[in-house]
Amino acid sequence: MPTSADMVTLIRQLFNEHFGKAGLLVRSPGRINLIGEHTDYNLGFVLPAAIDKAIYIAIKKREDRQIRLVAGDLEQQCSSSLDALESSELQWPNYILGVVQKMIQAGYPLSGFEAVVMGDVPLGAGLSSSAAVECATAFALNSLFDLGLEKIQMVKLAQKAENEFVGVQCGIMDQFASMFGKKQHVIKLDCRSLEYAYMPFDSSDVRILLFDTGVKHSLASTEYNLRRQECEAGVAIIRKKFPQVQSLRDADLTMVEACLSDEDPKVYMRCKYMVEEIQRLQEACVDLQQHDLGSFGKKMFATHEGLSKLYEVSCPEADNLVKWVSEQPAVMGARMMGGGFGGCTLNIVRKEMADSLINTISDLFEKTYHYPLKTYTVSIDDGTSLIEN
Ligand code: GLA
Repeated sequence: MPTSADMVTLIRQLFNEHFGKAGLLVRSPGRINLIGEHTDYNLGFVLPAAIDKAIYIAIKKREDRQIRLVAGDLEQQCSSSLDALESSELQWPNYILGVVQKMIQAGYPLSGFEAVVMGDVPLGAGLSSSAAVECATAFALNSLFDLGLEKIQMVKLAQKAENEFVGVQCGIMDQFASMFGKKQHVIKLDCRSLEYAYMPFDSSDVRILLFDTGVKHSLASTEYNLRRQECEAGVAIIRKKFPQVQSLRDADLTMVEACLSDEDPKVYMRCKYMVEEIQRLQEACVDLQQHDLGSFGKKMFATHEGLSKLYEVSCPEADNLVKWVSEQPAVMGARMMGGGFGGCTLNIVRKEMADSLINTISDLFEKTYHYPLKTYTVSIDDGTSLIEN
């Protein structure tokens, strides 16, 4: 894996090859989420952190209204114009063009530009490479055109790009984590008020390991939007009896049992998981404050169980990875992470036992699925920033 210094050298070279000059350079990281999954669009809390794998964008203004884009890793190019923004079949340009469109719609004065984008966030692994591209773009355009946007405004524009241009009804977590990440801290974000607090995450005795199922979350966008609708359907029913409930954030288990146990079982299961998860996160934050990673880890396993059995967004590979590690003394907690239907499992592992755990689980995985397990060790890093002007 290249270091971030290598990435900077590489992207500089590539920008120079394509556009013959130096551009402004922005880094925006991928994210993990310790606990609080699918809670963001139900206006609950999340506990994400930015990681040391990032997307980089090198960018420069043009005199006309053309947009020229190069994806360094994929060796693909795309051209567009500020006056005729259309969704690209290549997919990756949409995370950039979507942000451009949302900025134009919000009335920000842009001109054409050229950009190279590349990075070391594994794609389709549930580490939010797309949010990282969106945040990198918003941050880069903000600097390039001196728009004076606050970070939170850029986060909202990036999320809007994903919702409306890309078409995934995601919540705010990924973009928020990429933009606001802080080294050695997780972010406790209240997705209703958008108030947030940084909580120290002491990783001196543990390693954060990601096991990549290798299953690309292709079902994710349709199923993801469906989960959102199922939660909304639950809220509509609960409100008939409890009109004060605006979102599942306001509901509790008693309400779910009273209003939904005789309704569509899927709606009941989704809402049950959700109110439990919102509560679980609060308790998990107390564990973190008390430096009780053992207790925190147990809650991660409980989250996985809920995501798999009630919310039904896991996959057999992730279920097995979590089951296998649950039998290993090295592992304090593990669960599938992100939207689901593939991607990675997140494992909090005792440092000195991490290497042997990787060997054991990789062997088991390859024997079972006949392809190698990709594993990543990540550390918690800072959010989006300008690297060079
Ligand atoms: C995806 C979405 C986020 C969040 C997670 C699940 O990553 O982009 O907004 O809903 O899934 O927690």
